[in-house]
Amino acid sequence: MAQEKVWDQEYTRGLFITGGNEPQADTRDFVKFLKKQNVPISGTHVLDLGSGTGRNSIYFAELGAHVSGIEISSVALREAEKQTKDKGLDITYLHKSMGENLPFKDNSFDIVLDVTSSNSLTEEERDIYIQETNRVLKPSGWFYIKALCKDGDKNAQNLLKSNLGKEKDTYTMPETNIIERVWSREYFEEFYGKYFKIVELQKKTNYSRFNNQSYKRNFWIAYSRNM
Ligand SMILES: C[S@@+](CC[C@H](N)C(=O)[O-])C[C@H]1O[C@@H](n2cnc3c(N)ncnc32)[C@H](O)[C@@H]1O
Repeated sequence: MAQEKVWDQEYTRGLFITGGNEPQADTRDFVKFLKKQNVPISGTHVLDLGSGTGRNSIYFAELGAHVSGIEISSVALREAEKQTKDKGLDITYLHKSMGENLPFKDNSFDIVLDVTSSNSLTEEERDIYIQETNRVLKPSGWFYIKALCKDGDKNAQNLLKSNLGKEKDTYTMPETNIIERVWSREYFEEFYGKYFKIVELQKKTNYSRFNNQSYKRNFWIAYSRNM
C-alpha cells in the first residue's frame, strides 16, 4: 500500500476532514440519474472504493443500500466509522487497498463508486483495480467514476512540467507527496472501455480546496455499466 502513509498524513493534518461530510453534487446527480433509469438504491449492494471519511458510503446507506467501503488510510477509516455510528448506520469498512485482489465473491455488487480515489494507484495496481471491479460488479451493474482530467486543466499541465511522476500522466503533489494520475479523454475511454460501457461521460470543472487554497480542476465523470 504504497500511498498509505501519505494519505494518513493528509488526514492527520486535517486537510481532508472537514466539518461536514455531505456527498458532492456530482454524486447526488448520479443517484438522480439512476432513479431516472429505474435503478433502485434501497436494498442494492454498493462498494465504495477509497471511501475516505465515508461521505458517499453514508449517503448510499441512508438511501437504504448495503454498503462496503475500502480505504487505505486508517485515520480516514476511524473518522468514517465514527460518523457512521453517530448516524446509527451499518456500513462495512475494510482497511485495504483497492489496488489488490478484493475479498468479495464474483458479482457481489450492483453499484461501485470510485470518487477520485484511484488517482494514486500505480499502473500495476490500476490493472488489478479495473479487473477486480469488473469481477465483483454484477453484469450490467453501474460503475461511477470521478477522475482527474488532463484536458484543459492548467494546474495539471503545470504539475506535469514541474513534478513529473515516473508513470504516464502522473505527477507528485508538492508538500504532500500524493501521486495523481490525470486522464485525457482518449486514454480514459480506452482504459475503462475495455471492461465497461461508458453510458455518459461529462467533463466538469470544480474548485478543489486544499491546504487553504482553492484550485480549479477539471474532472471526468463517467456513468458506466459492466460488460
Ligand atoms: C480524494 S480522496 C476521496 C475520498 C472519497 N472517495 C470521497 O469522495 O470523499 C481519495 C481517497 O482514496 C484513498 N486511497 C488512495 N489510494 C487508495 C488505495 N490504493 N486503496 C484504497 N483507498 C485509497 C485515500 O486514502 C483517500 O481517502
